[in-house]
Amino acid sequence: KRIAVLVSGSGSNLQALIDSIHTPPTTPAQIVLVLSNRRAAHGLTRASTASPQIPTAYLALKPFLHSNPSSTRDDYDARVAEMVREADPDLVVLAGWMHVFGERFLERMEDGEGRKKAPVINLHPALPGQFDGANAIDRAWEDWSNGEITETGAMVHKVIKQVDRGEPLVVRKVQFKEGESKQEFEKRLHGVEWEIIVEATRNVLGL
Ligand code: GRF
Repeated sequence: KRIAVLVSGSGSNLQALIDSIHTPPTTPAQIVLVLSNRRAAHGLTRASTASPQIPTAYLALKPFLHSNPSSTRDDYDARVAEMVREADPDLVVLAGWMHVFGERFLERMEDGEGRKKAPVINLHPALPGQFDGANAIDRAWEDWSNGEITETGAMVHKVIKQVDRGEPLVVRKVQFKEGESKQEFEKRLHGVEWEIIVEATRNVLGL
């Protein structure tokens, strides 16, 4: 089984996949591509220092638009889709990927052209419908600080056109703790993410 992982940041969720699925002796699947839209993403380093080494690719939106003046965001999404398709993945995992894909990307992951469909799943640090979009962790902490919520969570969901609204595949609740600092809370939440990204990937691939 072939997995493509898209990252934008530290890649700690990618690392969880590398450690649990990609690295021998347990290698029920392999990560065949790590693509980032940020050159400085530490996830790229994690891929190139993995063993076996994982091919990496980089394409950022602004430089792409700048060097292709008549191009649009859709063209960028289509180009990323082609780069991913070239790796011939059975599954595409968005792990800390901070770019909202339009329909063009999803269409190209689904379209036939004799190539297999690749489901796309995304990790999101909130419960379904709770804090869609960016800064979910900060918004949850805010509402906890205002006494509006007592729990949040993380989920992995199928990617569809509506941001963070696809069918949840794995959902895990995380209770806030009185007196806990934001940093301690975030550490606990990220730990849950590392578990569910692996669980969801195994589930989808039937590993
Ligand atoms: C994670 O909370 C992820 O859900 C969010 O970005 C954070 C960083 O993830 N989208 P990673 O360390 O880059 O995997």
